[in-house]
Amino acid sequence: MQTLSVIKQRREVTQFQPTPVPRDHIRALIEAGYYSVTGNNLPSREFVVVEDAATREALSRATPYMPWAKDAPLNLVIAGNPQVSKYWLQDATIAASNIWLVATELGLGAAWGAIHHAEDPVECARREQAVRDAVGIPAELRPVAVLGIGYAAAPPKEKEMYPLARVVHLHSWGRQVGNLTEV
Ligand SMILES: Cc1cc2nc3c(=O)[nH]c(=O)nc-3n(C[C@H](O)[C@H](O)[C@H](O)COP(=O)(O)O)c2cc1C
Repeated sequence: MQTLSVIKQRREVTQFQPTPVPRDHIRALIEAGYYSVTGNNLPSREFVVVEDAATREALSRATPYMPWAKDAPLNLVIAGNPQVSKYWLQDATIAASNIWLVATELGLGAAWGAIHHAEDPVECARREQAVRDAVGIPAELRPVAVLGIGYAAAPPKEKEMYPLARVVHLHSWGRQVGNLTEV
């Protein structure tokens, strides 16, 4: 599949079949994270692969918005390390996005649990500690996201997009692009 097709096809899936994710697929997802670009090529993000049901249950309680984590047969925790790079947050986010795309290409569904919370430092710290406690991550690492991955219980619908002109400008901001033929 072409990368752009995968990007267009990707949806969030929050209901999963109990079928485990095949080992070769898990390896491909890890590679997607491992090979993801980082600022200055520094290893500023780390990954924890979680299949254990009790650990997934603990992760599902890290925020109120990821109950699906316990039902996803695979959870991937992505954590950044500010001691390694000032770009830890971007690096972790890029890796999570690439993993999500590879999951889509492999026919897997995925959901994103937001651990990093830029607007509420107290809630952010609470979420991070819940993830650290669940999987034993050391204090210097900042958990950014938990991806829940597995086979979707039902095929996701095609994505409905807002107009291109809402977000794309040509030459200067405000010259909105209504149609790609204008570019
Ligand atoms: C940074 C970020 C944070 C997100 N946080 C959550 C979350 O905490 N819980 C959740 O169920 N989905 C979360 N999502 C999923 C988005 O809400 C979802 O991808 C978005 O509504 C678009 O839908 P789509 O993925 O089907 O295109 C998050 C996605 C991103 C990129």
